Amino acid sequence: MARFTLPRDIYHGKNALEALKSIKGDRAVIVTGGGSMKRHGFLDDVSHKLKDAGFEIQLIDGVEADPSVETVMNGARAMRQFEPDWIVAIGGGSAIDAAKAMWVFYEYPDISLEDILAPFSFPTLRQKARFCAIPSTSGTASEVTAFSVITDYDKGVKYPLADFNITPDMAIVDASIAMTMPRSLAANTGMDAMSHAIEAYVSTLHCDYTDPLAIQAIRLINENLIPSCDADETARQKMHDASCLAGMAFSNALLGIVHSMAHKTGAAFSSGHIPHGLANAMYLPKVISYNAKDEPTRARYAQIARAMGIDGTDDGELTDNLKKRLCEMRDSLGIPSCIAKFDSGSIGRDEFYQKLPQIARLAVSDACTLSNPRRIDDITMQRLFECCYNDLEVDF
Ligand code: ATR
Repeated sequence: MARFTLPRDIYHGKNALEALKSIKGDRAVIVTGGGSMKRHGFLDDVSHKLKDAGFEIQLIDGVEADPSVETVMNGARAMRQFEPDWIVAIGGGSAIDAAKAMWVFYEYPDISLEDILAPFSFPTLRQKARFCAIPSTSGTASEVTAFSVITDYDKGVKYPLADFNITPDMAIVDASIAMTMPRSLAANTGMDAMSHAIEAYVSTLHCDYTDPLAIQAIRLINENLIPSCDADETARQKMHDASCLAGMAFSNALLGIVHSMAHKTGAAFSSGHIPHGLANAMYLPKVISYNAKDEPTRARYAQIARAMGIDGTDDGELTDNLKKRLCEMRDSLGIPSCIAKFDSGSIGRDEFYQKLPQIARLAVSDACTLSNPRRIDDITMQRLFECCYNDLEVDF
């Protein structure tokens, strides 16, 4: 038996935010990030619409990128005092992820983070509140997924939480909110969406329910990511929808080692954070080379290439041309080809090679590795990371 879970309602297209007026309840808490939603007027718009719908509202703001356990616990405490019957999260993946985790500890004050670390082990939610997610980036797709990533900064560990209980009830995919993303954010989150769709399409858990969503997301991202970064409004709209389609696919088909590698390198180096989508864009062509050594997976990449309108006489040539296309996209978005070139070379060779064994071990044990189409061990993962650091061919 397999399960396929999505939000009950996904409102999309122009003026989708109007859907907020249709929700019923007494008290809504709005969770958001560090200020972009306020600055661009979206927060006021959401507040007014909820007030028009008869809600008393309270704001929980200041959720940081890579939200912390403290932020989550403080938010849950505020929710317990206010007792909302709707949680409305507006912002990038960070705000929505944090709000999902707050929801769990609001409904179950006596459980601890450790109690929900095992995937699909959550208690039953919706005893106190329902959840509406409004994404402002076009990549994470937290508005439709069963996932949330929370960071324990004391321990230096990122906790990926996974359970269909935290798949939102309602998603509002209104592209007017994505129009204000700066170019680099649109580029990085867009390549995150492309990695979601490609990894979901070749995942061991892909199926007839997830494939059409993944392949349509790939087509749309192929056509629209670059123009969307050059401020083409129609393309931005398409990217917002494509990210959501990719999210519906990967929430149910899961991901692969591009994400395992990005999770474990995001905060590993002293020079600072590698943006998640940027890391995915660097690793994706290398992982395709590694996975495509298996013939059935090569055939899946060839199907992706055909859907993107890429030519080739056989699966090998199609896969090579798919990699070329992804590298061209990456280059035209100004994303570096390898870790050594990231941020003017701020991640030095000495630190990289010193941390390599541990990063490789952690990436192999990441939950996303389980659904990658080709197995990998610690030593091979080290070799793959070396290719990603130095931009070398993957010939193993
Ligand atoms: P992701 O979706 O990749 O997880 P994030 O970590 O939630 O993104 O947000 C990354 C940054 O993009 C944050 O600085 C966020 O600003 P706020 O925390 O102030 O909200 C910013 N950001 C998100 N959506 C944006 C938008 N539509 N316009 C401008 N900035 C935005």
